[in-house]
Amino acid sequence: MKHVTTVEELRQALGRLKRPIGFVPTMGFLHAGHISLVELARKQSKSVVASIFVNPSQFGPDEDLEAYPRDLPRDQALLKKAGVDLLWLPTPNVIYPPDFQTWVEVEEVTQMLEGAQRPGHFRGVTTVVAKLFNAVQPDTAYFGQKDAQQVAVIRQMVRDLNFAIDIAVGETIREEDGLAMSSRNSYLNAEERQAATILHKTLEVGKQAYEVGERDAQKLRELMREMIDTEPLAIAQYVSCAHPGSLKELDQITEGALLSMAVYLGKTRLIDNVVLSEV
Ligand code: PAJ
Repeated sequence: MKHVTTVEELRQALGRLKRPIGFVPTMGFLHAGHISLVELARKQSKSVVASIFVNPSQFGPDEDLEAYPRDLPRDQALLKKAGVDLLWLPTPNVIYPPDFQTWVEVEEVTQMLEGAQRPGHFRGVTTVVAKLFNAVQPDTAYFGQKDAQQVAVIRQMVRDLNFAIDIAVGETIREEDGLAMSSRNSYLNAEERQAATILHKTLEVGKQAYEVGERDAQKLRELMREMIDTEPLAIAQYVSCAHPGSLKELDQITEGALLSMAVYLGKTRLIDNVVLSEV
């Protein structure tokens, strides 16, 4: 597996890869969720490019940019084993040179949920993803359902800006007890890690209520909040039952609705979601 830093080195290395090219952007500290995206890309594409870049512009001033976990040697070994052909490791200066002044903003679908709680987050995400897309020019880019709003925002950007890139979505990979894998799980102490199973349990409660006929979205949100409140270490930031494309809150639940939540376990903020479908 070759690795490159600058856009010039990347372009040269890309010229030697067979198309179609699948691309998996990440912020590193990789887990089985990231690797499942590489495996999906491996199946569907002739070559796989991955990137690791902890993007400063998607972190708020009070967020965990400095503390964000990093382990490059381990990440490189995992990506090599998973069959990545080319790894791009841009430095902050490569992505944001001193005179950088162009930003990509998706307007509506960034307003709610994560966007409401993390002002400027999606502006950072869409700007860096647009830059990564322009540099790598993949045929398909792979994202995880774990970050459902990120997927909706990137799909919107791809449509609005005519990126000739297919967006593929990989299912959420979970630990055995249901906790969605996340680089941020490493912040949890033993007690919090145990309590964190409440996110998945709560989504299951919502899903089951839907499956036995509940169609009132407000009832479902209340049911889920009550479930989170049963865990003393967990504090719900938002609980949502929304349209999967627009992410607007629903009154009546329709097929494909997205149940999602952000929950604090101590200082650690975790998110999770599930899509409702008829059984
Ligand atoms: P990061 O959090 O490193 O995630 C990289 C990709 O892995 C994202 O598409 C994310 O949705 C996916 N992912 C994370 N946890 C997952 C899980 N448990 N199962 C399946 N997929 C999972 O998301 C980002 O980085 C950044 O915002 C990025 C898109 C790289 C832009 O900076």
